[in-house]
Amino acid sequence: MGIDMEMERVFRMNAGLGDSSYAQNSILLQRRGLEIVEPVLEEAILSMKMMSEFNTFCIADLGCSSGPNALFTAENITKTLKAKYMSAGIPVPQCQNEEGVAGRSYFAAGVPGSFYGRLFPDKALHFVHSSFGLHWLSQVPAEILEKNSVTWNKGKIFCGGESQAVGEAYFRQFQKDFNTFLRARADEMVGGGRMLLLLLGRTPHDPIDQGYIALQWELLEISLNDLVKQGLIEEEKVDSFNIPMYCPCPGEVSNEIAREGSFEIQRLELLRRSENFPREEMEAITGSASAKDAYGQKLAKQLRAVMESLMKHHFGEEIMDALFERYGEILGRRLSERIEYGKRGGYLVLVLQRR
Ligand SMILES: C[S@@+](CC[C@H](N)C(=O)[O-])C[C@H]1O[C@@H](n2cnc3c(N)ncnc32)[C@H](O)[C@@H]1O
Repeated sequence: MGIDMEMERVFRMNAGLGDSSYAQNSILLQRRGLEIVEPVLEEAILSMKMMSEFNTFCIADLGCSSGPNALFTAENITKTLKAKYMSAGIPVPQCQNEEGVAGRSYFAAGVPGSFYGRLFPDKALHFVHSSFGLHWLSQVPAEILEKNSVTWNKGKIFCGGESQAVGEAYFRQFQKDFNTFLRARADEMVGGGRMLLLLLGRTPHDPIDQGYIALQWELLEISLNDLVKQGLIEEEKVDSFNIPMYCPCPGEVSNEIAREGSFEIQRLELLRRSENFPREEMEAITGSASAKDAYGQKLAKQLRAVMESLMKHHFGEEIMDALFERYGEILGRRLSERIEYGKRGGYLVLVLQRR
């Protein structure tokens, strides 16, 4: 993906309910993560100060996409909130949920625009949730596309090569974006309001070791280069494609929060993916070659549901089937490596309170 690409315009999860839709392919990683942090979400709401001075309690789920995960989160938040007010004998405030889901026990609305910018009026929000959105950068760092510079990421598609300069360029982009996110939310949230952020993070300090997610991108890189060898993609197309994702380590995140200054950290932890694999993944890893292959193809669909919009935009729709099939094959063969990679990263969970 080039710098010219506007993430906001192009990047979206695969829509609908089809075979490669996000709705059907967001269970193994995202839904599992949401279920694991459910108690953290409940605790974040239950331990928040009562906001009985407000008739309306405004919740924003930023980057909620569509489908079952969006509903799961919205309902968990409103259910917990209602239980909290009812048990204290305080009238339950009306809930306004700023996301693209049909209204249920709350009033729902969708707000267009990037969360790396203002989306709501001053002091409008009481609770903010965002899952699996903040590791996505607003853009690929410009320096890594500068041909023949030290930061040029030739032949690579993420910040997982040998180059420290590339890793640092990605890190600077993350710092800039995360700071913009925090500043916008600081303006939009009421004092005492809380925010739960769930994103992919890593344990190593070195930015060029992207932890758990690195295997996924390494194998996608190999798949793309295989299609170059087959003459299906031009080499230059791979050189100019980079994934706008950065998985931070906990220290990078806490430094940015301290530097921005509007939020107090209530909780910050990294849950290693290797300790949270679904049972079917462990069964596939220890299973036969055909079980590994089938699981590799299943994981390829999960990646396709998230990445297809960006890949299609850059490489063209005609190679999508070949690309993700190749990726699934390679992943199936290297499935057991996910355990080692999974020890180096996973779910980064944060609960912040607006000062
Ligand atoms: C992997 S999906 C996560 C969806 C859902 N929150 C979940 O947990 O399943 C990432 C979502 O973040 C959104 N996203 C990424 N960058 C964004 C940005 N800068 N502003 C708003 N949404 C963004 C994507 O469009 C997508 O809907």
